[in-house]
Amino acid sequence: MFILAVSGSAIGLGNIWKFPYITGVNGGGAFVIIYLICIFSIGLPIMISEIMIGRKGKRNPITSMEILGIEETGNGVWKIVGFIGLMAGFLILSFYSVIAGWTFHYFLLTLQGLFIETSAMEVKTVFNQLTQSIPKQLIYHSFFMILTVSIISKGVRNGLEKAVYFMMPALLIIMCVLLYYSITQGNFSEGVSFLFKPDFSIITASTILVAMGHAFFTLSLGMGCVVMYGAYLEEHESIFKTSIIIVLCDTFIALFAGLIIFPIVFANNLDPGAGPGLIFQTLPLAFGQINGGILFGALFFALISFAALTSAISLLEPSVVWLIEKRQIRRSTAAILMGLLIWSMGIFTILSFNNLSSFVFWKGTIFDNIDFLASNILLPISGLLFTVFASWFMSHKSSKRELSDTTILQYNIWRFLARYIAPLAVIIILINFIGVF
Ligand code: TRP
Repeated sequence: MFILAVSGSAIGLGNIWKFPYITGVNGGGAFVIIYLICIFSIGLPIMISEIMIGRKGKRNPITSMEILGIEETGNGVWKIVGFIGLMAGFLILSFYSVIAGWTFHYFLLTLQGLFIETSAMEVKTVFNQLTQSIPKQLIYHSFFMILTVSIISKGVRNGLEKAVYFMMPALLIIMCVLLYYSITQGNFSEGVSFLFKPDFSIITASTILVAMGHAFFTLSLGMGCVVMYGAYLEEHESIFKTSIIIVLCDTFIALFAGLIIFPIVFANNLDPGAGPGLIFQTLPLAFGQINGGILFGALFFALISFAALTSAISLLEPSVVWLIEKRQIRRSTAAILMGLLIWSMGIFTILSFNNLSSFVFWKGTIFDNIDFLASNILLPISGLLFTVFASWFMSHKSSKRELSDTTILQYNIWRFLARYIAPLAVIIILINFIGVF
């Protein structure tokens, strides 16, 4: 089912790993509010636009944009939007796979009972051991890429969507257990106020850009994932309603993760701005203390790895489908080729945490820069173009047809957000950022 496929894509490391970590780095409350505003005023209308384009174009994002561009405007140059997205997808999957490898490693560690009654110090040491070890990370990164490539090669969809159906409730149950721990054992009040009490004085142009970029990242927007999946959406299904449900679920899970993690951070005097290691340095503490911690912990990391897998598949699928159509090669060949390319790029992310950790420029390490460029620059630019195309260049008749089940008010809300608010916001935020470049 479409809704499960897109949820499987949207819900992943972005919600559990990246959201808490960038919220911490960017000072909490004010960042969260800007992120939420971006989700609903930019993310939601763009998601609707991308699904519309996908369902109408019925192909991979590049070809869909080319076909629709010719149909609606007489110009196939719109396919460039698809290419920008593809590039972003490449870059994102290269580091995504490394982090997914970490979660898998943590699944094994938790299963061994390593975290029973550990201290914050010990947990930190374990994390450092992982990030310092190139071979370990290489193994997990390779494992994860091989898994992704083999699933894509087979073109399995049905099984995965069913799995998503069970994964979500299971994930929520464990998150409830963790939340209970955070409320009772963590510093819950400080965690909540960090997350929701805004201090706008610490906000910079860069923070706003990161919040917006994350809205794209977490909803899988801007790279054509949603366009790709939109191609499989049946005519009678409602684009408007499904988009709202997906956006709400995704946001709920991210905030939920934040509510779990920050009380643990403050109860243990950890640094909320610890960076990409934040969840790996907090959650094991909780699993080490609760009853059944080994079971819950192992299950939790297994579920996150799985959520990452369904997202990774959505990151790879568009480029593979494009390659198959373009070069007439076998699905497995295309998947392996793309997989190899992305895998080798992932090595730079691995090195960013050890040998090249002091090689910093612009936004930080190589990993920081890959993430920043892809999530905060490329995704917004192509997302902007997708929505401008759907709302300005697609005829009124076409968009009305795709959103035929909406009321006039709902349609006009989408059109207003997609035509004016989302594009202007993206442009202003990007320009504002360039100002402080
Ligand atoms: N949204 C996913 C997450 O939050 C990651 C992801 C999947 C993604 N597909 C994407 C991000 C496309 C950007 C673009 O983990």
